[in-house]
Amino acid sequence: MTYYADEFGFDMPEVVALNGVHALGAAKANQTGHDGNFTEGAETKINNKYYKMMLDNSTVWEQVLSEPTEDNPNKPEWHWDGYSAEDGSQKIGMKLDTDFELFYDLQLVSEDGLAGCRPPNGIAEEELPLCPKYPTYEIARRYAQVGEGRAWWARDFAFVLDKMLLNKVDLSLLRDLN
Ligand code: HEM
Repeated sequence: MTYYADEFGFDMPEVVALNGVHALGAAKANQTGHDGNFTEGAETKINNKYYKMMLDNSTVWEQVLSEPTEDNPNKPEWHWDGYSAEDGSQKIGMKLDTDFELFYDLQLVSEDGLAGCRPPNGIAEEELPLCPKYPTYEIARRYAQVGEGRAWWARDFAFVLDKMLLNKVDLSLLRDLN
């Protein structure tokens, strides 16, 4: 939050809207060490599934330590893999701590991002306490809503993405090419 505020002048609601971009694409083990599609089967579709998946009880989330690879210079870090609650072998997606932190204070217990608590749809080998909600919980939950949530998020995301792309651009220097 502090980085976004200092660099882009974003407030907390703007950060919540912007990070929904992680509906798209994937992490690759040889780049960041994290591995997997953010939203299985919809990696190129921009929608509010990003938020829904983290709240939905049809998905269970488990913390996973990234596997080192020969060409990945980064130290292993924890991320979250989501599976169908009905069929545990069906992968639903992948999330970073910074994604879940829009909903919960993960109470990290180590520098590699291990959470000291679990979200309500989180599973852990050891019984962990439930994570407290983060102050942005209600904003993220609003975007997760079926129906209207998608339109709310699309509108706010477009606004904040535009703001990010125009950050530090001096519009007075733009010339009319005609
Ligand atoms: C809290 C801030 C953020 C963090 C910690 C973060 C972290 C990451 C990480 C670790 C990956 C996986 C990269 C890989 O392994 O190749 C990733 C992927 C991605 N991020 Fe972010 N990100 C953040 C914010 C953003 C923002 C603001 C945007 C764009 C507006 C963005 C767009 C993307 C996209 C599109 C991918 C998928 C790339 C691909 O499929 O190759 N991220 N991000």
